[in-house]
Amino acid sequence: MTVRSSIRIAPSILAADFANLGRDIAAVERGGAELIHVDVMDGHFVPNITIGVPVVKAIKGVATKPLDVHLMIEEPDRYVEAFVKAGANMVSVHVEAVPHLHRTVHFIKKLGAQAGVVLNPATPAAMLEDIAADVDFVLVMSVNPGFAGQEFIPHSIAKLASVRGVLERARSSALIEIDGGIDLSNAAAVVAAGASILVAGSAIFGQPDAEAATRALRLAASGASTGA
Ligand code: DX5
Ligand code: ZN
Repeated sequence: MTVRSSIRIAPSILAADFANLGRDIAAVERGGAELIHVDVMDGHFVPNITIGVPVVKAIKGVATKPLDVHLMIEEPDRYVEAFVKAGANMVSVHVEAVPHLHRTVHFIKKLGAQAGVVLNPATPAAMLEDIAADVDFVLVMSVNPGFAGQEFIPHSIAKLASVRGVLERARSSALIEIDGGIDLSNAAAVVAAGASILVAGSAIFGQPDAEAATRALRLAASGASTGA
């Protein structure tokens, strides 16, 4: 079996046991996760409230893999620096939440983190056109952000193809990340459509063995990716 090495599995700790985060992160790292995806929600941009800077700092102390911090908050510019100082290696902001996206992206990069932009399900790929060359990665939401455990929106496959088209036209080498409802049934399809970073919450931490679930997701993702 040929495994496309560029696939990265990013377990979302939103679905982990918050009283045992260190244990759960260690399990997915043993399972081969390349990134730890951290969902920051403020109760304004999205209806849910999750975690903030102190928890990211605590996670940084136990994780051996880079932290991929997904900001689902209003006015993310106010907090980006604190999250990078706390240990975020990748920071993504929603295009719907940021009025001066070019400034924010370059601010993240100047702080030394990789900069990502996120598209909600109803936000067109065309929104990326004038920022595609500047970003390190694009995160395509395949659910409406706010909660783990939602159902994958099928149109996300077409969205991935559109995003890939925008990036190619801009000659951007940005990676495409997909987030929401990713599981064994759709992992290969999203990889074939252009995603190379797969976020998964429930499909990993909702399983009895998160380490084995991480391996299983990679297998599902890479199995059909050869030649893609
Ligand atoms: C949703 C978050 C996701 C979520 C994924 O707003 O951005 O990262 O935790 O969870 P699943 O994989 O269960 O959809
Ligand atoms: Zn996320």
